[in-house]
Amino acid sequence: MNTLGKFRLDGKIAVITGGAGLLGVKHATVIAEAGGIPVLWDVNEKAMQDCAKKMKRQYDADCLAIDVDITNLGSIRNGLKKVLKKFNKIDVLINNAANNPKMDGKSNPAWGRLENFAFDLWQKDISVGLTGAFLCSQVIGSHMAEHNGGIILNVASDLGVIAPDQRVYQRKGLRDYEQPVKPVTYSVVKHGIIGLTKYLATYWAHKSIRVNAISPGGIYAGQSIEFVRKLIDRIPLGRMANQDEYMAAVLFLVSDASAYMTGSNLVMDGGRTCW
Ligand SMILES: NC(=O)c1ccc[n+]([C@@H]2O[C@H](COP(=O)([O-])OP(=O)(O)OC[C@H]3O[C@@H](n4cnc5c(N)ncnc54)[C@H](O)[C@@H]3O)[C@@H](O)[C@H]2O)c1
Repeated sequence: MNTLGKFRLDGKIAVITGGAGLLGVKHATVIAEAGGIPVLWDVNEKAMQDCAKKMKRQYDADCLAIDVDITNLGSIRNGLKKVLKKFNKIDVLINNAANNPKMDGKSNPAWGRLENFAFDLWQKDISVGLTGAFLCSQVIGSHMAEHNGGIILNVASDLGVIAPDQRVYQRKGLRDYEQPVKPVTYSVVKHGIIGLTKYLATYWAHKSIRVNAISPGGIYAGQSIEFVRKLIDRIPLGRMANQDEYMAAVLFLVSDASAYMTGSNLVMDGGRTCW
């Protein structure tokens, strides 16, 4: 096979958790562009159906959208059953879903501060971002291990490598204890996902399952000018990422192009973690 051919995903079935979200749709798009079949698992039924229709219309991909809550083992098993009924296999799993706290627009900007951080929020964030990735890997990975192997890609973050610089989130006119912060769960989930990646990669290497992580930096998505200015000051390339800039890296990681790579974390952050 020539080198470009290794990026093809013809006939490959790829489950994407959080497949209806900002990045999930991009992952689905590049999989469809490469000839694969994206299967969306999400709890946002409408956004998921819209994405599935787009995949069919633009790429003639037989995209399947299934209502799966990744915090619920029964729901995941049911999702697996539906995928196997239609396609009889799963080649790729992208653990992408996570609570991604929006830092703007809260009536109480201090909700995320460590001293105030609510226990039920801790549990919710861990349960989607970390437990959800574990459960999906357990269920789908076990299926892959019993059959023909596969590829798992975990979506981490630059904040899985470095701590958030809380000065980026500060707002003028607020006292110290009122200042918004990136919540602790985001760091814990993203560092944990990288640990899960290494564990699974070594655990299932002999079953021909490759497991890698990608650590994207922040994406332009309508953030305030003040926030963007502070953040890009900390990024050597001097900007945030455009929404489509991770697609080629995701394709690399879920295709044979990365055949000799497992247990790695591909950091793609405009150089932020170098500083
Ligand atoms: N957007 C960024 O700037 C950025 C940067 C680095 C890393 N990331 C990571 O990329 C991934 C995707 O981020 P995004 O910006 O697309 O987020 P998003 O909020 O747009 O999408 C997340 C999706 O997950 C779904 N979801 C939530 N709970 C679920 C559950 N229990 N079961 C199934 N689906 C569930 C949501 O409905 C949503 O569609 C996340 O892991 C995020 O941490 C994002």
